[in-house]
Amino acid sequence: MRVLVVGGGGREHALCWAISASPLCDALYCAPGNPGIAQVATCLPVSAEDVPGVVALAQKEKIDFVVVGPEAPLVAGLVDALAAAGIKAFGPSAAAARLEGSKAFMKDFFARHNIPTAAYGRFTDLDKAKAFITAKGAPIVVKADGLAAGKGVIICHSVAEAHGAIDSMMTEKVFGAAGNEVVVEEFLEGEEASFFALVDGTTALPLVAAQDHKAVGDGDTGPNTGGMGAYSPTPAVDDAMAAQIMKEVIEPTVRGLKAEGSPFKGVLFAGIMITKDGPKTLEFNVRFGDPECEVLMMRLKSDVLPALIAAVDGQLENFDLRWYDETALTVIMAANGYPGTPEKGTVIGGLTEAGALEDVQVFHAGTKAETKDGKAVIVANGGRVLAVTAMGPSVREAQTRAYQAVDQIKWPGGFCRRDIGWRAVAREARK
Ligand code: AMP
Ligand code: GLY
Repeated sequence: MRVLVVGGGGREHALCWAISASPLCDALYCAPGNPGIAQVATCLPVSAEDVPGVVALAQKEKIDFVVVGPEAPLVAGLVDALAAAGIKAFGPSAAAARLEGSKAFMKDFFARHNIPTAAYGRFTDLDKAKAFITAKGAPIVVKADGLAAGKGVIICHSVAEAHGAIDSMMTEKVFGAAGNEVVVEEFLEGEEASFFALVDGTTALPLVAAQDHKAVGDGDTGPNTGGMGAYSPTPAVDDAMAAQIMKEVIEPTVRGLKAEGSPFKGVLFAGIMITKDGPKTLEFNVRFGDPECEVLMMRLKSDVLPALIAAVDGQLENFDLRWYDETALTVIMAANGYPGTPEKGTVIGGLTEAGALEDVQVFHAGTKAETKDGKAVIVANGGRVLAVTAMGPSVREAQTRAYQAVDQIKWPGGFCRRDIGWRAVAREARK
């Protein structure tokens, strides 16, 4: 089978790493990929967001199966365009991807199908949004409707701050057209988890849960990012909680999308807040999480490729996946300046030494190969640059190993959080 993975981040490196190990995979391509992915796949310079370009590439390379990593091409209809060209692709149609492409669509969908979530209002009028905030009081959460790379959500601790967030989205357009409409919602308290299920249109097969770390700084301080580190399994989601999330969140979503004429195929990623009143859905994503995918692929014992194909073929009903019980933990190393404007082009050393450690994988997220002073080097080329991932028998041990690898990396132009996994480590220490 000739496989093409679309994307060029840490998630796609982890997907390529897992797919390249499949006996079903004869040839693996990635568009556009990155220098880490180039170790396991042939990278071709086509942007993930160039829908006609990716279709043309898949035709030229006689690709049998495409796996789409990021949300933007899904929302733009890449899977529909590939299907129209007769090419099988993993991921939802544009109609089903609206679940992630529009927060307003998602919130109304939750309301129609009784899926537990935070109370909300949606606004295209600035004054009405502000009046709603004044009436509700703080803390309160302001969200840009459209895609904003994980940064379009502002947790506001005062009414003035929330009014400021509305101004920045609706007047200053800091997220562009994504802020033409905003969602304002109730602040939920609890522990957050990322829950994943493969879906074939009708059947949902639960994968495993992970916990991400959204804030840029240690102790969950500072602005939100795309995710600074993750680990799995997480004690926040035990078997009973996983069953409850399947029943109250995932299954009604799969039924609802099917009933509304846009059945979902691909991976559903529910961002869940586990509150004292049970799980509430913060958001849906229509793709694997990044960096959650890195820990999921490390823990997956089964061949990933047949599972992805079964989702496309409507064959998940009798499917089963096996996972390592050990913990996988990943630490994101980001370029200085992230989540604002990251510094590009700084040289990263020590990658070979870090990757040589036992049970460690260094996934590349935002890197580029360059020649500097006649030498081949890897440089930073994005906000989140590396996902340094390790396995261990406990969260503590996986964490220790991941930071041993981080400490091998010589990169003054980057930084990371030093406390990934802290909630679970504290729980383990209490035992
Ligand atoms: P979202 O992209 O909607 O998942 O939001 C990004 C992050 O903001 C989430 O992962 C949460 O940490 C936080 N967040 C979003 N909505 C809420 C809410 N209603 N209450 C508390 N925190 C929230
Ligand atoms: N790590 C969260 C996301 O992928 O949206």
